[in-house]
Amino acid sequence: MRILLIGSGGREHALAWKIRQSPTVSHLYCAPGNAGTESLAENVPIDAADVRAMVRFAVEQRIDLAVIGPEDPLVAGLADELMAAGVRAFGPDKAAARIEGDKAWAKELMRHRSVPTGEARIFTKFRDARTYVASRDSAVVIKAAGLAKGKGVIVCEDPAAGILALERIMVQREFGPAGDVVLVEERLTGPEVSVLAFVDRHTIYIMETAQDHKPIGEGDTGPNTGGMGAYSPTGLLNDALIRQVEREVFVPIIDAMRTCDIVYRGVLYAGLMLTAGGPKVLEFNCRFGDPETQPLMMRLRTDLVEVMNAVIDDRLEEVTLDWSPRASVCVVIASGGYPGPCEHGRRITGLEAAAAVPETVVFHAGTRRVGADIVTAGGRVLGVTALGDDFAQARERAYRAVDCISFQRAYCRRDIGFRAVGS
Ligand code: AMP
Ligand code: GLY
Repeated sequence: MRILLIGSGGREHALAWKIRQSPTVSHLYCAPGNAGTESLAENVPIDAADVRAMVRFAVEQRIDLAVIGPEDPLVAGLADELMAAGVRAFGPDKAAARIEGDKAWAKELMRHRSVPTGEARIFTKFRDARTYVASRDSAVVIKAAGLAKGKGVIVCEDPAAGILALERIMVQREFGPAGDVVLVEERLTGPEVSVLAFVDRHTIYIMETAQDHKPIGEGDTGPNTGGMGAYSPTGLLNDALIRQVEREVFVPIIDAMRTCDIVYRGVLYAGLMLTAGGPKVLEFNCRFGDPETQPLMMRLRTDLVEVMNAVIDDRLEEVTLDWSPRASVCVVIASGGYPGPCEHGRRITGLEAAAAVPETVVFHAGTRRVGADIVTAGGRVLGVTALGDDFAQARERAYRAVDCISFQRAYCRRDIGFRAVGS
């Protein structure tokens, strides 16, 4: 099969690594890819958001399967356009991807089906939102309803901070039209977990558990990022809780979409907070998580291409997914300044030494090749991911590899998986 993988992050490098292991693959393209995917795939310089160019390329190259990594092209309808042009695409269509692209719609669906989630009010006018926030006396979370590169959620300690956040989103329009509609949500507390599932017309298959660390600082402090590291499995969810999440979250939300004539096919990701009142949904994503995919792909033994094809054909129930029982840890190395602006173009050294650590893969995210060098090209630069017999071994290997790598102003958290220590 000729496969086109769309995206350029750590998630896509991990997907490319896994797809490449499938005996069914004759050629793998990655558009646009990064300096890591180029060792596994032929990188093609097409922007992931350029739907027309992507469809043209897929048709010209007789692509058998297009795998769409990031949310922006999914929400823009890339899967629909590919399918219309006769190219099989893995990832939900535009109507289904709205579950991530429109948080107000997602919240209404959840509310309608009593899916456990934070209480929220939806606003389109700054004045109304401000009046409401000013009347509250507790912490609030202000969310731009549209896609904002993972930055559109601002957790505020008090109403005054909430009003500042509303101003940023609705007046200064920091996230553009993504902030036309805003949610004001109660702040929930508790550990966060990511539950990802493969979904087709008939079946929901919940994957192994993973936990992401979103805040930039150790101990989960400071501003949120796209994710500073992840590990799998996480002891935070036992079988009973997973079944509860399937029953109370996945089944009703898929069903709610079905009543709107939407068939969800792809990966559905529920970001959950384990509150004292049980698991509650923070958000849905219409794709694999980044960096959760990195440890998950290292644990998946089944051929991913086979699973993706089964999802497209509504045959997921026929596939058995086999996971390694071992632990995996991914540590993200970011550029100094991230999640704010950071400088790019710093030369990265030590990648080979890092890759020589047993059962360790250095997944690239924001990297670029310049001549013989690999240089930084983004906020999150690398996701150093290791397997181990247990969590402690995986973590020791990941950090041993991290310590081989250097570039100017490199930053990583030293505590990835701290909640799993001792588990
Ligand atoms: P989201 O993109 O909606 O997942 O939000 C990004 C991050 O913001 C989440 O991973 C949480 O850390 C935080 N967050 C979102 N909603 C809430 C909430 N209601 N209470 C507390 N934190 C939240
Ligand atoms: N790891 C968070 C996300 O993929 O959205």
